[in-house]
Amino acid sequence: MFSSRLPANVHANRLSEALRARQEPYLDLTLSNPTRAGFDYPVDLLAPLGDAGGLSYAPSALGALEARRAVAADYARQGLIVDPARIALTASTSDGYSLLFKLLADAGDEALVPRPSYPLFEHLTRLDLLVARHYDLDPDGSWSIDFHSLERQITPRTRLVLVVSPNNPTGSFVSAGDLDRLAAICAPRRIAIVADEVFFDYELEPGAAGGAGRAAARDDVLSFSLGGLSKSVGLPQVKLGWIVAAGPEPLVAPALERLELVCDTYLGVSTPAQRSAGALLERGAAVRAQIAARVRANYRTLQAAVAGAPSCRLRPSGGGWYAVLQVPSFEPEEDLVLRLLGDGVLTHPGYFFDFPRESFLIVSLLPAEPSFAEGVSRVLRHFACTVTGQ
Ligand SMILES: Cc1ncc(COP(=O)(O)O)c(C=O)c1O
Repeated sequence: MFSSRLPANVHANRLSEALRARQEPYLDLTLSNPTRAGFDYPVDLLAPLGDAGGLSYAPSALGALEARRAVAADYARQGLIVDPARIALTASTSDGYSLLFKLLADAGDEALVPRPSYPLFEHLTRLDLLVARHYDLDPDGSWSIDFHSLERQITPRTRLVLVVSPNNPTGSFVSAGDLDRLAAICAPRRIAIVADEVFFDYELEPGAAGGAGRAAARDDVLSFSLGGLSKSVGLPQVKLGWIVAAGPEPLVAPALERLELVCDTYLGVSTPAQRSAGALLERGAAVRAQIAARVRANYRTLQAAVAGAPSCRLRPSGGGWYAVLQVPSFEPEEDLVLRLLGDGVLTHPGYFFDFPRESFLIVSLLPAEPSFAEGVSRVLRHFACTVTGQ
């Protein structure tokens, strides 16, 4: 009766079962919801959503021009000039992916997806009847694109390459040089680049964002940059994201015409959210500043703590909300994560994100500083060895 685009097994895994059964509190180092992380959101932050102008409905497929101008201004804050006419509003980044998949691919066409990366790609591609083929990020270096692996995955059905910059969870930005190289591979094959840049504002290693390439600035290959309020101002519940199209005008123009048709079919972005886009982007800067300060402080805490834990290694994270710990492989990651949960701290196992081998633990940098520090010390304590004897 049910579509094969859904997985055969939709049941909980061992970890979610253990969480459901657990009665005692625990420190959650998987927290990804900024509204649950103790930030000081101004109480009237969402007041613009109640503006009376939202009482009338005048749908526009790519979104209200005022809102698209506000998004363009936000790119200008990051130093990029973007034409509002090349922006489409979406209900979220996930919605943006789905719209682009419909624009670019037929059933059975292929998307190249980075590994390790955001676990939702498996579902997002499958729900739109695309086949995800994985290319590797270099596990022994700074998680840059392994171009040999990427080129091996290209087939006549490849329609797009996804990049996430900075990546979740490795924190690696796609460097300007790597984006140039990717563009040179994709353009002649008429493969589009879809760049998820939702965490771009959150630099952890000084200078990392400055060396990154930007999809919205390309003029040589059809490219799309994805962003949204979810991460840029910590408001996932408002459900407002965007797509910026870039590339040669003879490709961008027909892409936008078709994207307009796809968007017009769903009209998924609420009028109040569109009308408030400018105000929320402006007011939300205060939340962004708090998140940025928090993730940096926690990253430094983690660096200091791991420096005192010789058996563990913190993999440098250029940006984003997550960090990757490489830990000794005494037991399968899932057993390790369950044992840590028994000690009152929850982390994600690397295999959730398709790391190529064990053992990696992923920690969120969002929790309040004291909980984060305590959670990290509970994790590291697990690997501490004491030398005894004379
Ligand atoms: C890489 C990446 N893209 C997109 C999202 C989700 O964004 P949205 O809430 O706009 O769908 C996440 C959420 O964790 C993410 O990690």
